[in-house]
Amino acid sequence: MTTLRPLRADEQDLLAQATLENINRAAPRYTPDDVLSTPELAHYISSDVGLVAEDGGPVGVVWLRFFSADDPGYGFVEESVPELSIWVAEGHRGMGLGGQLLTEITALARQRGYPGISLSVEQGNPARHLYERHGFLPAGSGFDPGTLILKF
Ligand SMILES: CC(C)(COP(=O)(O)OP(=O)(O)OC[C@H]1O[C@@H](n2cnc3c(N)ncnc32)[C@H](O)[C@@H]1OP(=O)(O)O)[C@@H](O)C(=O)NCCC(=O)NCCS
Repeated sequence: MTTLRPLRADEQDLLAQATLENINRAAPRYTPDDVLSTPELAHYISSDVGLVAEDGGPVGVVWLRFFSADDPGYGFVEESVPELSIWVAEGHRGMGLGGQLLTEITALARQRGYPGISLSVEQGNPARHLYERHGFLPAGSGFDPGTLILKF
């Protein structure tokens, strides 16, 4: 059975693995060392709030991180809006876990009074449907078409 629990501050390895698999989704472009040594990737190995899906070990994670305008994430919209990253392990995908993680992190973000959540999704990633079903919309003119925002 899969259960959700808070992400711990010492789980950088999980965030590094999730970030690596996310950026290598379409093709194996990056190595684990690239993630650690490239500032635009390494800054994702940090979280302000997150949830882990456990099934005998972590099988999914969603996390929110606030970025600054001078060190923005790919889905940066503004400093008061955290950026979401999400990953579900192969073999556990397509069974609703990603949706569950999104629902729960959205509820947490609302409880904390955040104005919304943003994210970046690559062109052609089927995950875009999932985000749209959860109410994410294009951030609008001036942003990359892959930058989506859910406003509360
Ligand atoms: C995107 C992801 C987190 C979704 O988690 P999930 O548990 O598969 O999601 P759910 O089962 O709740 O929902 C499935 C939805 O995700 C989409 N999806 C994306 N990649 C998928 C995959 N490999 N297998 C199944 N569904 C996938 C489906 O299109 C589906 O949306 P739809 O029902 O509207 O068509 C997960 O598939 C994943 O980690 N994929 C690879 C990395 C990635 O794309 N990360 C997001 C970067 S923005």
